[in-house]
Amino acid sequence: MSAPTVIAHISDLHCGSRYHIPSLAKRVIDELNLLCPDVVIVTGDLTDMGFRHEFEQAKNLLDRIACNRRVVMMGNHDARNVGDEHYAELFGARNSELEHGGVRVLGVDSSEPDLDTGRVGRERYRWIEERFADCLDEVKLVAMHHHLVPVPGTGRERNIVHDAGDLLRVLANNGVDIVLCGHKHVPNVWRLEDMLIVNAGTCCTHRLRGKVRPCYNIIEIYPQGRVRVLRKEPFVDGEVVADFSDINRRHCRWRPGVRASELDEVIVEDLL
Ligand SMILES: [Fe+2]
Repeated sequence: MSAPTVIAHISDLHCGSRYHIPSLAKRVIDELNLLCPDVVIVTGDLTDMGFRHEFEQAKNLLDRIACNRRVVMMGNHDARNVGDEHYAELFGARNSELEHGGVRVLGVDSSEPDLDTGRVGRERYRWIEERFADCLDEVKLVAMHHHLVPVPGTGRERNIVHDAGDLLRVLANNGVDIVLCGHKHVPNVWRLEDMLIVNAGTCCTHRLRGKVRPCYNIIEIYPQGRVRVLRKEPFVDGEVVADFSDINRRHCRWRPGVRASELDEVIVEDLL
């Protein structure tokens, strides 16, 4: 089998917080440098309060990862205290794009100034459509901080983006294959139609819910639509938590613009 494109998905470092564990952060970076992933995606909350020194600490940490293909997102904690100004200076645009190994990644900002809640917003839908418009054979991956769909074990639900329904429709209509999220420090994988929605835990803090432990994700994307998701706790072997061999839409029972009465024909056609 061909080698996969390997994506390391880490999240919620919370540099500057009393819950941040520097030794664990160092361990995660050492592990990533052994893994040598093709791409590193950081789904936000680099800092705890959006302060300059916290962003600098996060930047120093992330710069020690020996992979320069990185997508680094803002989280709600980073948006505190006008933290977006420091983020822009140290990490660049809040929405970003990267292409490698047959995967097109869009980093989509879901943060709002000084709010814990998030939204992506109509103004970014067109940009998402445009960036995926010429993406025929590539895997389409979106990274964002807040949750796209509810995640069990996170307490009272207030973590999905305000425009989750509309955003889901945009992502589904544009054939997005994988969505990566962070935010509540609870790892999870949902499959919704043909879209995998993968949440990461916090990689290096004590800000934990229930019995969840610090962890991150390793995502292996193989040709022909196979995707494996491994959950990795620092110091512990990775565990395969999802292995899908058919994310290439062949078995999808719903298509935008197709009426329910036409579905049977579509499915038969697809399987021929
Ligand atoms: Fe968050």
